[in-house]
Amino acid sequence: MASNIEKNKTEADEHEIMEGHDYDGIGELDNPPPRWIMALFYITIGLSILYGAYYFWLDIGPNQDEVYAIKSERHDQNFASAKAPAAELKLLTDEAALSEGKAIYTEMACSACHGIVGEGNAVGPNLTDENWIHGCSFNNVYEIISNGIAVKGMTSFKDKLSPEKIAKVASYVLVSLKDTKPVNAKAPQGEPCK
Ligand code: HEC
Repeated sequence: MASNIEKNKTEADEHEIMEGHDYDGIGELDNPPPRWIMALFYITIGLSILYGAYYFWLDIGPNQDEVYAIKSERHDQNFASAKAPAAELKLLTDEAALSEGKAIYTEMACSACHGIVGEGNAVGPNLTDENWIHGCSFNNVYEIISNGIAVKGMTSFKDKLSPEKIAKVASYVLVSLKDTKPVNAKAPQGEPCK
């Protein structure tokens, strides 16, 4: 399909591309579209065949119901793992785990908001006293560190720390910092918890 436009037909060559019919002296020229437009046209046909084959005829790609199922399952998994610690994660009391918890406390800059020794500061609450805003069980503390409390300025650590590391830093708070009575301790917040 040689393009007459590209070949730059002059008025003199018009007879070559004349359709051959004539109505009251008005003729029609056979001027095919430029090659790039035809190329785009055939590419879209080619792609639509590949698309149809992938999603419908060969059924390789997921349809929208399957995509929905995959996404909602992924959501459920993320939500479940952030919600509560896995059954095997519990309060750790061994020296190794607690000192690793202490390292995580420093590394993750918990101290920026809760003080170097958990005494609390203008931002975050005291972590050494009997009072807790969100409960003092291992699961409570694990959940707070994991999910954070965005509106109150407590960071979520589930994307920064593995569940095992969250368990270690939670244990450090609950075992090592508990009752340490640091100087400059921030006034208690929340409910006393035994
Ligand atoms: C950007 C500041 C910030 C950082 C960093 C931060 N926290 Fe917090 N944290 C807060 C604030 C503010 C609260 C109080 C939330 C509220 O009032 O509900 C809080 C609450 C908590 C609580 C619940 C206290 C209670 O009384 O129930 C725990 C436990 C805790 N943080 C542990 C940690 C640990 C462990 C880290 C480091 C891994 C950490 N936080 C890092 C600001 C921070």
